[in-house]
Amino acid sequence: MARVVIVKLGGSVITDKSKPYSYRPDVASALAEEIASSDEKVVVVHGGGSYGHTAAKQQGISSEDAATTAAGVSKTRQAMHDLDNLLARTFMESRLSPYVFEPFDAALKAGKAQLGRWLRELMKQGLTPVTFGDVVLTPSGFKVLSGDLIVLELAKVLEPDRCVFAMDADGVYEEGTRVIIPELKPAKIRKMHVLPGQDATGGMKLKLDAAARIAALGPKVCFVSGYRRNEFSKALKGLEFYGTTVRA
Ligand SMILES: Nc1ncnc2c1ncn2[C@@H]1O[C@H](COP(=O)(O)OP(=O)(O)O)[C@@H](O)[C@H]1O
Ligand SMILES: [Mg+2]
Repeated sequence: MARVVIVKLGGSVITDKSKPYSYRPDVASALAEEIASSDEKVVVVHGGGSYGHTAAKQQGISSEDAATTAAGVSKTRQAMHDLDNLLARTFMESRLSPYVFEPFDAALKAGKAQLGRWLRELMKQGLTPVTFGDVVLTPSGFKVLSGDLIVLELAKVLEPDRCVFAMDADGVYEEGTRVIIPELKPAKIRKMHVLPGQDATGGMKLKLDAAARIAALGPKVCFVSGYRRNEFSKALKGLEFYGTTVRA
């Protein structure tokens, strides 16, 4: 089977992060159509955006701070499921057949080697596996597991050709500017000063950290605007695109 592409649809793309619980069906559908019309085997991970991050903040949960109530865990997960439902529906309207799975559950149930085989089989059957950032039980309580880190975990399992992060910026900016860096090495990323941002998980800082670790494993990582469907499509197909490529 052809090599796999892991696509992270940023919460900043499929929702309006400035407006609580706002979904962007038009943007999601444009990207879904690009995935459907490509020949690539794609696994999709999506972020929380104005759903997950809003709920997490309301409940005081983050990747650092554990939940203080059981209701907080349920409400935050519910927000992720609500967004996921909207996205899965959009996917179906755009000629994709999504197969939604819970990242933590699936990995636990199957084990990593099994997870890889299972995901490949889903794709062989014409399905598009879809998963998302989650609230998971850690040794120090329930915390937010970022979709960006799920991409890293899936990259270890699937050894994809590339990982494409679609986000609201056109790529990775030079520090303190809006100038896009076309090519980045993991070593350079480790020296960059990036602010964690407003996310419940560490925003761009965490995303870049995940990218550096993925690139060090082999796959190249593309940062592209989710609002430029043509550029997204090129990144998806492994063609030259406007944005940032991270390569070891
Ligand atoms: N060096 C940088 N390059 C690109 N974006 C950056 C940078 N530093 C901070 N950002 C901010 O990070 C945001 C993307 O991260 P995030 O909000 O976590 O996206 P997502 O919701 O897709 O995970 C962009 O909107 C941008 O404003
Ligand atoms: Mg983020």
